[in-house]
Amino acid sequence: MTMILKVDAVEPNVSILQRAAKVIKEGGVVAFPTETVYGLGADCFNVVGVLKIFKVKNRPPDNPLIVHICELQQLYELVEQDTKIAEKVIEKFWPGPVTLIFKKSAKVPKEVTGGLETIAVRMPSHPVARLLIKLSGTPIAAPSANLSGRPSPTKAEHVVEDLYGLIDVIIDAGETPLGLESSIIDFSKDRPILLRPGPATIEELKQVIPDLEVPEFLLMLEKQPSRPLSPGMTYRHYSPNKPLILVYNEEQLDEVFAKYPNSVIICPEEYSHKFKNRRILVLGRLSEPFTIAQNLYNVLRSVDNLPVSAAIVLAMEPKGILFSVMNRLKKAASEVVE
Ligand code: TXA
Ligand code: MG
Repeated sequence: MTMILKVDAVEPNVSILQRAAKVIKEGGVVAFPTETVYGLGADCFNVVGVLKIFKVKNRPPDNPLIVHICELQQLYELVEQDTKIAEKVIEKFWPGPVTLIFKKSAKVPKEVTGGLETIAVRMPSHPVARLLIKLSGTPIAAPSANLSGRPSPTKAEHVVEDLYGLIDVIIDAGETPLGLESSIIDFSKDRPILLRPGPATIEELKQVIPDLEVPEFLLMLEKQPSRPLSPGMTYRHYSPNKPLILVYNEEQLDEVFAKYPNSVIICPEEYSHKFKNRRILVLGRLSEPFTIAQNLYNVLRSVDNLPVSAAIVLAMEPKGILFSVMNRLKKAASEVVE
C-alpha cells in the first residue's frame, strides 16, 4: 500500500510530515518534492532502505544516489575532504539546486555511492524537503522518483504513474517550481568539473567557480568520453515510451513529418503559429526560458497519453537554462536530425 499525504508547499503541516519521517527512520521509502523534481528518499545510513530505492526504480546498482541535507553540519559527517574549495558555491547556491561531489567518509554505505569513493550532496530549498530531512533526523539519499529511464517527476501524479503500490509514501505538494534536476559539480578531482547542467546556469556557476571545467559532451552526446565521468551518463534517460525526434534543421521538417505522419510537435509558444494544422504541445515561452524547463518533463510524459506514434521536438539555442534543457533533450531523443 502506498500512502498519499497532501501538504502545503510553503507551510507544510508538521504532524503530517512526521508520519513520513517515521517511515524514513524505519527503513521505508518516501517520495517527496524538492525545488527541482520529486525525489525518492531513504535514510542514507540504512542499507535496507537504500536498496529498496534501487529495487523499485529498477536502477542499476552502480548508479549512485544524491544525499540530501538540511544543515551544513551534516555535510561534514558525509565527506572526508576539505570542502573549503567549494565554500563560495555553497554560500551562493545552498540551499538550492546545485549538487556537489566530494570524497566520501567511511560512514556512508557503499550502496549509496554505487561503490564509488565519492559522494554527491545537495541541500534542497523546498520547505517540504527541508522539514522532512529535519524530522527524519538523518540525511536522505534520493534519486528522482521515476522508474529508471523515464522523465523525472515534476508532479505527485507522475510519481503515482511510475511507483504507486511499490513505495510506502508519496508526499504531494503540487508541482515542483524548477522542473529540472540539479546542476552537479565534482569537487573531488584537481579541477572542479560540471557533470550535469541544471537550473543554475554555467554563467552563474562560473561567477563563483572561475576555473569550472564544462565538458563538450554535455551537449554532444555522440562525443561521450570513453570512460563515463558519472555512472548515470551511460544510460538513456528522460524518455517517453514513443520515438522522440530532435530536429535542428527546420528544412528537414517535411521529411520528418512524412516519416512520422501521426506525430505531435513539441515547441515553444513563439513557434506554434508555424504549425497551425498540426497537433502541438507547447513547451513554455522562449521569452521566459524557465517556463520551458518547468514544463519539459510534463510535456515529455504527456506524449505517452496522446493518440500519436511519435513526438518531434525543435532544437533551441542552448543558452542559459536552455543549455540544460537541450542536454536533457539530447539524452531523451531516439533520433537527431541535423
Ligand atoms: O535535482 C536533483 O538532483 C534530484 C532531486 C531529487 O534532488 N535528484 C536527481 O537524482 O536527479 P538522480 O539520481 O536522478 O541523478 C543523480 C545523478 C546521477 O546521474 C548519478 O550518476 C550522479 O548524480 N551521481 C551521484 N553520485 C555521484 C558520484 N559520486 N559521482 C558522479 N556522479 C554521481
Ligand atoms: Mg534521475
